[in-house]
Order: sequence, then C-alpha cells, then structure tokens
Amino acid sequence: MNFFLELFKVLGLTTYYMLESLVFLFVPKRKKSVSGEIVLITGAGSGIGRLLSIKFAKLGATLVLWDINQEGLHETSRLAGENGAVKVHAYICDCSKRQEVYRVADQVKKEVGDVSILVNNAGIVTGKRFIESPDSLVEKTMQVNTMAHFWTCKAFLPAMIASNHGHLVSIASSAGLIGVNRLADYCASKFAAVGFAESIDVEMRSLGKTGIKTTTVCPYFINTGMFDGAQTKWSRVLPVLEPEYVAEKIMTAIRRDQEILFIPRSLYVFFALKNIMPVKISVLLAEFVGAYNLMDNFKGRGKKD
Ligand SMILES: NC(=O)c1ccc[n+]([C@@H]2O[C@H](COP(=O)([O-])OP(=O)(O)OC[C@H]3O[C@@H](n4cnc5c(N)ncnc54)[C@H](O)[C@@H]3O)[C@@H](O)[C@H]2O)c1
Repeated sequence: MNFFLELFKVLGLTTYYMLESLVFLFVPKRKKSVSGEIVLITGAGSGIGRLLSIKFAKLGATLVLWDINQEGLHETSRLAGENGAVKVHAYICDCSKRQEVYRVADQVKKEVGDVSILVNNAGIVTGKRFIESPDSLVEKTMQVNTMAHFWTCKAFLPAMIASNHGHLVSIASSAGLIGVNRLADYCASKFAAVGFAESIDVEMRSLGKTGIKTTTVCPYFINTGMFDGAQTKWSRVLPVLEPEYVAEKIMTAIRRDQEILFIPRSLYVFFALKNIMPVKISVLLAEFVGAYNLMDNFKGRGKKD
C-alpha cells in the first residue's frame, strides 16, 4: 500500500479507537464468562494468587493451582471449595525449574485437560542493593518472575493456538515500567515479563489468533506481605493497595479482555509523562514518586514465609 494511503488509514482508525475508548469509559464492556474454563494460577498459595483462585471458583471455573508452599496450597483449595469451586486440582510445582514446569504441565494435561486461562502470578523479591544481592537470589528472581512465564507458555500455548481460544495473564508490576532503588533484579525481571507478554500478544495477532487474549497487570505496592516494610511517599496519589481491591480489578480486566492494567490509575499519568519527557524530568518524577527511598525499610516476608 502507498505510504500516504496507509498513513491515512492509521489516522482514521486512531480517531475511531479513541472515540471507542471514550465510549467504553461510560458504557463499560460486558464481562465474559469464565465458567467451564480451565484456569491455572501459579503462586496460588497466598496473596493475589489465592484471591484470584477464590474469585475464579465463584465464577464456575475449574481450578489448577500451583505453588511451592504445600500448606498455602491446601488452604487456598479449601477456600476455593468453600466458595463454590466446581473442581480444584492442586500441584506442588517449583516454577523456577523448567523441567519441573514441563513435568507438572504434562500431568495437568492428562489429569485435567488443556488450560485455557493461564495466570503467571508467582513472584519473589530480594529487596537489596544490586551489588549486595546474592547471585543465587538474582538468578532465582529471573527464573520465577520471568523465565517461568516462558516455560508455562511453551507448555500451554500450543493447545490455545490449536483451538484459537485462551487467555494469558501476566502479573507483572509497576516496577516493570520504572527503575527503583534496591529493586534492580526485580525490576529487570518485571520489565522482561512485560516485554514477553507484549511480544506474545503481537505474535498471536500476527498469526491471526484473535481468540487468544493477553492481560498484563502492573500494580504498585500491595499489602500482601511480599513487600512488608516498603513505604509509599504520597499515599493519596500512590497508596499501598489492598489485595482484595487489586484482585477484583484484575478479574474485571481479564473478563473484559483488557490488554494492560495499571493500578492505581495515577500510574497511567506517571508513565505517560516518563515516556515523553526529557530524561532529567523523568529523574525528577522518579524522585517525586519516591523511587529512591521506597525500599529503605523493606523487610519482606520472614524466612518462615
Ligand atoms: N505485593 C506487592 O506489593 C506486589 C506489587 C506488584 C506486583 N506484585 C506481584 O504480584 C504477584 C503476587 O504477589 P503477592 O503479593 O501475592 O505475593 P505472595 O508472596 O503473597 O505470593 C507469591 C506466591 O508465589 C509463590 N512462589 C514463590 N516462588 C515460587 C516458585 N518458585 N514456584 C511456585 N510458586 C512460587 C509463593 O509461595 C507465594 O504463594 C507477584 O508476581 C508479585 O511480584 C506484587
């Protein structure tokens, strides 16, 4: 196509999509049903993974729950059952280990069936200055927060492609969009998770697999215990989020096929500015939102957790 014709088409469609988004602000999209879907959630043994499990259970989905924490998994299965889960299948799976992911994925396919909604949620954080972070933890962070997404996609995406039906959900972080002091490896792992999810989305579109949706979630701090001790600078603009609120937002985004979700909303403004402003202003903004000191009093989960 001629350059100007294509440009004209892009401008026309841009106007149309802007208007469409505006309409959706006032008349929200209908939420799709997840009843009967096979939903796999990694890191389902606590926090956001547990809350999402309960919410999917209430909506009639078949649950496949993965975690390394047996006790946590057991408790989530119990709560899912109490909340009307049709079927709950819990598996111990260390997502940081490729072969273990493939082995347990095969078991799931045999025992439950093809996963149609994959929620990559398991995550860890070290919370030290980069040069003080043990190499083993830096590696583990990349393995759990990023590479696990590769292996679960390799395992479950082919069946989604074959049926042109599925949903890939990546629980990333606002730390996947901005560098933060004492979170270098965590930020790297989350930037990578965001890039991976976006690329798979592009890959599915290029294959014409429009039935496979992606949702990437980038929340600020959530009060689950993972980031205990971390403090927010301006709690009115960037509050520490309540897990229940975040889980509900994630469910709505999944059920409306929303590609990207930032929580809270103020992040949309910060990241838009970060991307268009000169670097000096981005640095100023990072300082303003507290990116230098957020982790000064970080404790995280105790060893026992
Ligand atoms: N808590 C926050 O402030 C926050 C903010 C932004 C994004 N996130 C992200 O949200 C997701 C959920 O976090 P959360 O706050 O519920 O944390 P959480 O610690 O409550 O839950 C994480 C779960 O992942 C599991 N897990 C850890 N390593 C694993 C492994 N190798 N294999 C399988 N499971 C493993 C843990 O056992 C735990 O049950 C994470 O990806 C996290 O990075 C959290």
